Amino acid sequence: MSREPSPGLSAAACAGSNIAFVKYWGVRKESSGVGMPLNPSISMTLREAVTTTRVTFRPGGPPERDTLVLNESPGPPEALARVTRVLDEVRRRAGLRAPAYVMSSNNFPTSTGVASSASGFAALALAAAAAAGLPCSPQDLVDLALTGSGSACRSLYGGYVLWDASFGQGAEANPVRQIAAEDYWSLVDLVAVVSREAKKVPSSQGHLLAWTSPFLEARLSQARTAARIVEKAILDRDFETLCQAMEAEALSMHAVMMTSKPALLYWLPETVAVMQKVRSLREQGGVPCAFTIDAGPNVHVIALPEAAPAVRKELEQVPGVEEVLFCTTGGGPRLLEADGPCK
Ligand code: PMV
Repeated sequence: MSREPSPGLSAAACAGSNIAFVKYWGVRKESSGVGMPLNPSISMTLREAVTTTRVTFRPGGPPERDTLVLNESPGPPEALARVTRVLDEVRRRAGLRAPAYVMSSNNFPTSTGVASSASGFAALALAAAAAAGLPCSPQDLVDLALTGSGSACRSLYGGYVLWDASFGQGAEANPVRQIAAEDYWSLVDLVAVVSREAKKVPSSQGHLLAWTSPFLEARLSQARTAARIVEKAILDRDFETLCQAMEAEALSMHAVMMTSKPALLYWLPETVAVMQKVRSLREQGGVPCAFTIDAGPNVHVIALPEAAPAVRKELEQVPGVEEVLFCTTGGGPRLLEADGPCK
């Protein structure tokens, strides 16, 4: 039996993006591209990179007529299709048929290497469930967010977050848990932006290509070990160990990308220049910082807060670096009483 909501059944939520120290790359063969990771991943939620999303279910139209407004412009069709996937799941669980009007905005520039899909789908899951009046356990929210994007499930928690790969979507236990809260250890993520071009191969496609790399098995075993090392390094606030494990881990993910068929080469010469700079700052200068890189050319440089201003200055001087964004460890998502910025 379906029921229609009263007009204007609406809720808003905000969520921070995240940067993975142990990366999720590759999904199980039986999956459609999200939700069933091959390896565990660990991330830090970002305070300054936030998506705010309002969902309003409106009776009177077929569910496929959802509307997406992204940063005040009509959302691209691929983004709308992913949003509708999440909304369909909310409608199915809540017994609704009404289409939704979704307004979403990021307080950070798109195409700068900060994952707007992570914060976007975490905020969408929370707002859509609340707008539909759907009671949700933390695990239900994880399942909803995973319908849109894998890394979004980690943005449902603040601080340092583990997504365990031994569970699939809809598993009996929640595959996501917080390792430590944001006030346990404060780190800085300096994003060295070397290109603003949207990536040519989206991660949803890349996850399916991982199987074509002859290095996948070696990486999976490396990533499982890295997850144990990184979790302990976070709990011990051991930055030196975190640096070593995080860099090796990012390089191993990119080795799989570069050896997939077709090969995915996300780096630019400027990416490598930033990596070299970070290595020389740490190894020759003793500056506590390390790099990690997602599916794109921009470099995330993780630093201890006291070193961050000096690291930022150094990164700004690397030829080809257009901008350096500054993010710190942030908290979990929340529902908003009224529209407004997420503080
Ligand atoms: O959540 P997706 O499908 O955008 O994949 C994220 C992939 C990486 O950013 C490269 C790694 C990660 O764990 O965030």
